Amino acid sequence: METINVGLLGMGTVGTGVLRIVEAFQDDLQKQVGSPIHIGKVLVQDKSKARRYAVGAERLTEDAWEIVNDPSIDVVVEVMGGIEPAKSYILAALDQGKHIVTANKDLMALHGSEILAKAAERSCDVFYEASVAGGIPIIRTLIEGFSSDRITKIMGIVNGTTNYILTKMSQEGASYEDVLKEAQELGYAESDPTSDVEGLDAARKMAILGTLGFHTSLELADVQVKGISQVSKEDIQYGKSLGYEIKLLGIAESQDGMISVGVQPTMVKKTHPLASVGGVFNAVYVYGEAVGETMFYGPGAGEMPTATSVVADLVAVVKNLKLGVNGRKMFVPYKEKKLKTADQ
Ligand code: NAP
Ligand code: HSE
Repeated sequence: METINVGLLGMGTVGTGVLRIVEAFQDDLQKQVGSPIHIGKVLVQDKSKARRYAVGAERLTEDAWEIVNDPSIDVVVEVMGGIEPAKSYILAALDQGKHIVTANKDLMALHGSEILAKAAERSCDVFYEASVAGGIPIIRTLIEGFSSDRITKIMGIVNGTTNYILTKMSQEGASYEDVLKEAQELGYAESDPTSDVEGLDAARKMAILGTLGFHTSLELADVQVKGISQVSKEDIQYGKSLGYEIKLLGIAESQDGMISVGVQPTMVKKTHPLASVGGVFNAVYVYGEAVGETMFYGPGAGEMPTATSVVADLVAVVKNLKLGVNGRKMFVPYKEKKLKTADQ
């Protein structure tokens, strides 16, 4: 029973959850994969910072290359966020034949094709379930569960922070600034919450979902984006008086081979299930020509839900290692991207 060695890049909200799950559920994980999973070195920015979860000081490092260049490490879990230096660390780790699990939607929406191409070249796995909708296994569902169908539309609430803000403004009349601060304290928001409130985080997630659902290669620039920073308490109360809740919705559609993707605050009728998706919860509708309408619901951000997805990816990598099938092409984009223009 050879131990699987894991290096962790980041020990913030998500990284802490990953350590908690891997260490608390070690017995169950080991029984599933047939080997102990050991997280050794953990990269942080500042070793002297107080931590919510106890790890021995000897495990913490401020030098990512101690992890990336360590030949005993099989899998690198990247939960540090941002584009650089995360991208360089991931590419270097792939070059050395290490498998990657990441929660980084910024990186996957912008440089996913480059990273996946490098992974294929090196027969490595790159899994990124936690990059969209926190604890909802929507990426695996689109890649595997709907491989038999033609997806026509993906619609939903894919940002926990903005849904938390809109819910509290609607239900408690709370101020935008106060609730944003709360969402940051709860670990829901991005390190720069502008990404959340201006709709960019949701747009990156819709680019990833559209890419997978429509078998093409969508980028952030393909998504029309409007966030919630201009939504006032008055707008929300006015909507409510007419029987609507305001929600930040992402909608990706593919009709006659033409794709449109957008994110914007939307009036949702109170009788529609999306209107009652509250707090940090997300919900994603997937429409397929064969299956019809399906809906996936769950916590969209936060330490433990997100870590659940990260560790599930880790288990998948280890199962592949056992079978010797890492680097299988789970997803092949075979359709040319044709975007709908404003006059179509
Ligand atoms: P976070 O709380 O800000 O944690 C980031 C961690 O990475 C910290 O431990 C930080 O070190 C370390 N770090 C950042 N930059 C570094 C650098 N240049 N060198 C060394 N260490 C560095 O972030 P998070 O909320 O856990 O999010 C991590 C990733 O998961 C992001 O890509 C995010 O988009 C994604 N994600 C987050 C959630 C969520 O609910 N939070 C959900 C889904 C996906 P220090 O601790 O020393 O500061
Ligand atoms: N900031 C993101 C959100 C984290 O609020 O949805 C989960 O991706």
